[in-house]
This record gives sequence, C-alpha cells and structure tokens, in this order.
Amino acid sequence: MSLHFNLLTLFPEMFPGSLGSSLAGRALERGDWSYRCTDIREYGEGVHKSVDDTPYGGGAGMVMKADVLEKALLASKDEGARRIYLSPRGKVLNQAFVKELSAAPALTLLCGRYEGVDQRFLEAHDFEEISIGDYVLSGGEPAALILMDSCIRLLPGVMGNVDTADNESFGAGADGLLEYPHYTRPSMWVDAQGIEHSVPEILQSGNHAKIDEWRKAQSLEITRMRRPDLLQKD
Ligand code: ADE
Repeated sequence: MSLHFNLLTLFPEMFPGSLGSSLAGRALERGDWSYRCTDIREYGEGVHKSVDDTPYGGGAGMVMKADVLEKALLASKDEGARRIYLSPRGKVLNQAFVKELSAAPALTLLCGRYEGVDQRFLEAHDFEEISIGDYVLSGGEPAALILMDSCIRLLPGVMGNVDTADNESFGAGADGLLEYPHYTRPSMWVDAQGIEHSVPEILQSGNHAKIDEWRKAQSLEITRMRRPDLLQKD
C-alpha cells in the first residue's frame, strides 16, 4: 500500500521540503509514498506565462485562472486521485479526516497563491477544500506539506515503533483526548537554578494497571483544561 501525492504548485522547489528528512524521508526512499509536482507556471499564458488575472467585481489581489489550472491538472494525469484545494475556507483537518485521506491511493493537492482560484475550476473538477486551521498562510504549499506529513505517518511501516501512531492521542484508535505527560531519566532532575523536579511516583512503580489509569486521568484533565471542545464531540 503506498500513497501518491500529485502536487499542483507555482513553487515546486518547496517539495519534498521537510518530508525529505527523518521518517518521511526514509519512507519516500522506500517507496511507501511518492510525489510529483506539476508547475502551474508552465501552463501560463503569453510571454510572461501569466497564471492569474484581476477579480470580476473588483477588489484586491489576483485570481488564478481556470483555463491555466485546467491545463496543469490534465497534464498531471491524476486519474483516481481525490482532489483537494488547500484553503482557509475549507473543512478543517483533524485526525479522523487525516486517517480517511491516508487510505486513498492518490491525492491531488492544489496549492493556491494570490487571493484565490476561479471558483468554476474547483466546481468543474470536483475539488474539495481543506484548511489546516483557522489562520491564513501566504500560500497552500506549507499546508500541503502538513497534510502530507499527517497522512504519511499513518502509512503501514512508516513509524519506527508500530505502536506509537496508534497509542498517541488523535492516533488511529485514539480516544480523542490530548496526550498525557511524558518523563524519562533521571528520576530526579535538578535544573540550572538548583530546583529539584521529580518524576511522578506512580510511573516508577511498575504497576501497569495503575500507570494506565493515571495516564487516562491525566489525558482527561489536560483535555478538560486546554481543549474542552474535544470532549463535546461524539
Ligand atoms: N492557504 C492559506 N491558508 C491556509 C490554511 N489555513 N489552510 C490551508 N490552506 C491555506
């Protein structure tokens, strides 16, 4: 099982970016996932290879042209891919949604620049809009990298420790809570000011049932304090 990303972008040099390193980088070398960039500029018009134009109705900024985008999309040969336009207007990504996307054989990711893209192109070619959060980036490329990273780590064999992706909060089979706190040696750490910090006793007890119970309670408390909205969901 492998996942292919078909990227439509004006900045192909941004890929694979951070995904060329670490676990994702090794998974790329192994062929667990692959990507191909189509440079939208190559399908631009005229001597300047123009890809955008002023918006109908006026207003600031430029809009990416439907005809240019369609040429780029068709040249990218994305048969069978789910089509996604990264946009702050989209449905906000969460772990359940990532899990669903990572099961697809291929994802076409359209990275926009400027004010947006011609709505007719999105509708004519069945693009769904996905946002990575309620803030605005200068372009879709970093959002695409984040979506890709979140999908890649769920692919079988990508995470070194098979358990890790599952046990983490928001992981596959997760309880939808935030993670409990982690500690490692030494059991007593003295900081630069000479203040002593110990590891909770229970974690050193070897009583795994009690440890599980403690961790669940911590997860619940941290979620209640930081993200009560997560407890409202089904
Ligand atoms: N492009 C600009 N901002 C974005 C966001 N928050 N999510 C996805 N794509 C974007």
